[in-house]
Amino acid sequence: MAKLPPRFLIQIRIPMAQFGTVFCDHMAIARFENGSWGEAAIEPLAPLPLHPAAHVFHYASTCFEGFKAYRWQDGKARIFRLHDHVARMQRSAKSLHLPVPDADLLAAMVENLVREQFDDIPEPPSSLYLRPTLIGTLPNIGAAAAPSTEATLFVLASPVGDYFAGGARPLKLLVADTFARSTEQLGSTKTGGNYAAALGPTLSAKEKYGVDQVLFCPNGDVQETGAANFLLVNDDEVMTKALDTSFLHGITRASILTLAADLGYKVIERNFTVDELLAAIPTHEAVLSGTAACLAPVGCLVYKGEERNVMDGQPGPNADKLRKALQDIQYGNAPDTHGWLTEVRT
Ligand SMILES: Cc1ncc(COP(=O)(O)O)c(C=O)c1O
Repeated sequence: MAKLPPRFLIQIRIPMAQFGTVFCDHMAIARFENGSWGEAAIEPLAPLPLHPAAHVFHYASTCFEGFKAYRWQDGKARIFRLHDHVARMQRSAKSLHLPVPDADLLAAMVENLVREQFDDIPEPPSSLYLRPTLIGTLPNIGAAAAPSTEATLFVLASPVGDYFAGGARPLKLLVADTFARSTEQLGSTKTGGNYAAALGPTLSAKEKYGVDQVLFCPNGDVQETGAANFLLVNDDEVMTKALDTSFLHGITRASILTLAADLGYKVIERNFTVDELLAAIPTHEAVLSGTAACLAPVGCLVYKGEERNVMDGQPGPNADKLRKALQDIQYGNAPDTHGWLTEVRT
């Protein structure tokens, strides 16, 4: 039998493991000490030696990013919206008063890691998920009200499969109008603490109502789920909450809104209430947007103990059309007219 390249063997013989559980064997890493960033390096993936008093362990000084690199048929890789993710990481770091990584430093760390792990990038619809992470490493348990002046920045790479393998099962969401996912000051920060805050409500909603996710709508304001933005779509328009500090400004959300406008949809960014949401679902598709799922259809909402179908409860054509428009760019089947892709060659 002809010898196959390693990435081919991975794709054909081993089904993709669960999202986020398999890692490439190198990471990119840089440290901030004595007021400046040191040189970044590519190192074998290994446990980090950290002082038990490190700020991150006690005061949650951590933020991260998540985005993907795709292998194209031309043999090169493309990273989707790298510079927007780097900019969001900088905003997250700033909001936590962590040392802010230079944009060029972080972008180069990601590109170098993608180059290093080039052979591990699967072909579309699979991809290489990239996870830059910044942690406060100052060893000081008395620094609850002081920032960490030392930090480590690292980037992990993880080959991931197609979210929709086996079909796009419509999701069921609990509409929760009594509590928030995050806080006003950290809602748009991609920090671990926000996910910790959403975990309890999400687990209890899963157990009590058998839902996949919670749609957080504090005081009736429809915001987002624990790890994705929420949009309503019909043949004419796409509607989603206007940007404010209460929720994460998804790059997929922004991309879908741009493509929707290109395709002739009216794009509406405004706050809307749970009552408006319930009035809209007989005539609008509902979707979750995010890097992992791209656009995932929502088939059912649970509100005050009652289940309500979104349209007929099945995935709708507008979500399919918008998802395809985005994936065509990511996979190299349509021109990148917005300059969203960063090319990486070996
Ligand atoms: C809370 C939250 N909202 C929205 C998103 C979607 O963001 P993006 O489209 O940039 O992946 C994510 C995913 O990272 C998230 O964790």
